[in-house]
Amino acid sequence: MMENYTVICKNVKKTFFSVSGQVEALRDVNLKVKEDELVMLMGPSGSGKTTLLSVIGAILRHTKGEITVLNENLKELSGDNRTLFRGKNIGFVFQSFNLIPYLNVQENVAIPLFIQKVEREKALDIAKGLLLKMDLKHILDRYPKEISGGEQQRVSIARGYIHNPKIILCDEPTSYLDAENGKRVMQILKDIQKANKSSLIVVTHDPRIVDYADRIIEIQDGIIKNEK
Ligand SMILES: Nc1ncnc2c1ncn2[C@@H]1O[C@H](COP(=O)(O)OP(=O)(O)OP(=O)(O)O)[C@@H](O)[C@H]1O
Ligand SMILES: [Mg+2]
Repeated sequence: MMENYTVICKNVKKTFFSVSGQVEALRDVNLKVKEDELVMLMGPSGSGKTTLLSVIGAILRHTKGEITVLNENLKELSGDNRTLFRGKNIGFVFQSFNLIPYLNVQENVAIPLFIQKVEREKALDIAKGLLLKMDLKHILDRYPKEISGGEQQRVSIARGYIHNPKIILCDEPTSYLDAENGKRVMQILKDIQKANKSSLIVVTHDPRIVDYADRIIEIQDGIIKNEK
């Protein structure tokens, strides 16, 4: 691996084009994240945090610059390769949870394993184990609309790491949780991250969890302020 960086962004720009005009969500992002590093990303609303996670995670394509993730140049990854790469290597915890309404909690958590063709019963079993660890035994069979916001958030976190991805990208993972649950969830994420030597990038506004960070970076108007 190039030194031991899992993520390298060089002069990354992302422009959204829409009927109402252009938005430069990322203007010039330079960022390196190490294997085994827990980075927290902070910045005001609209500064480009979700956009940055989306381009690093190969959900959105960047407009200019270079993004290297696990030694792959994302620009050169297209079609099925991009989908396979994402499915195997990246775990997402979305700001809006993105749970599938017609799958129950256990099935939702197992999705990344289904995508990797793990046998159904085995995948559901692993999902159950993670949900028990997060004190969610009582909701295994329920559907997303039948559980609370905080429960949905913990379900989406379990889904984010079930497949042991090398890169975990979390967008405000504790926004719906009380202080105690927020810390518990961060501890679970950090334990997984250290055990797997994965890179964890966490977008947060939550001062209660910043102590878990190895490093805190700030983004403003699409530019990272304090990256060397
Ligand atoms: N699909 C899109 N089309 C057009 N503009 C977009 C799109 N997605 C985001 N933007 C714009 O890009 C900028 C960055 O948005 P982004 O969602 O990355 O912000 P954020 O830092 O995650 O904010 P928040 O803390 O509110 O979640 C904003 O000005 C936003 O309006
Ligand atoms: Mg956001």
